Amino acid sequence: MKAEAVIYTSKTGFTEQYAKKLGEKLGLPVCALADASKKYRNGATVIYLGWVFANTVKGYKKATRRYKLAAVCAVGLSDTGTMEAEIRKANTIPQKLPLFTLQGGLKRSQLRGINKLLIKILEKGLTAQKARSEQDERMLSLIRKDGSYVSDENLSSVIEWYGQSK
Ligand SMILES: Cc1cc2nc3c(=O)[nH]c(=O)nc-3n(C[C@H](O)[C@H](O)[C@H](O)COP(=O)(O)O)c2cc1C
Repeated sequence: MKAEAVIYTSKTGFTEQYAKKLGEKLGLPVCALADASKKYRNGATVIYLGWVFANTVKGYKKATRRYKLAAVCAVGLSDTGTMEAEIRKANTIPQKLPLFTLQGGLKRSQLRGINKLLIKILEKGLTAQKARSEQDERMLSLIRKDGSYVSDENLSSVIEWYGQSK
């Protein structure tokens, strides 16, 4: 499915980085969801990227009400290509809509208010847990330090899908 633009919602910049990389690779304009209504009509076909907050893809509901989504990319801390079923379920993303999970990063120093507090609570909870799963262990090590895991390679499935879907 041909898209008119790449639209995104980003809090600390990782999703924006992916959106810009993707736009460049696919030759599509890139726009924040907050500014998109000025540029794109309702019903325009777009690829949507949102950051993951407690398994929720930020802006997905709004984006899906306004635009025809060709695909959704969920940018979180989990490894690229994992957690798809969980994200699909939590956001009621239909099976027929392609979903890609991309590993973003964490900038704890830039977080404020509720986001800062929630990460602290998550870290405390995971630290206190006696039996941590492999996934919990990995999440704990990722939230303990700042880091960026954004890479061109992580976008390869999205680029491959777009090439085939045209
Ligand atoms: C309060 C909070 C909750 C988060 N919840 C999740 C989550 O449920 N799953 C996940 O994979 N990442 C989670 N993350 C990590 C973010 O999705 C990750 O930092 C992302 O790269 C942020 O993208 P951005 O820089 O575009 O805002 C959370 C981050 C914060 C601050």
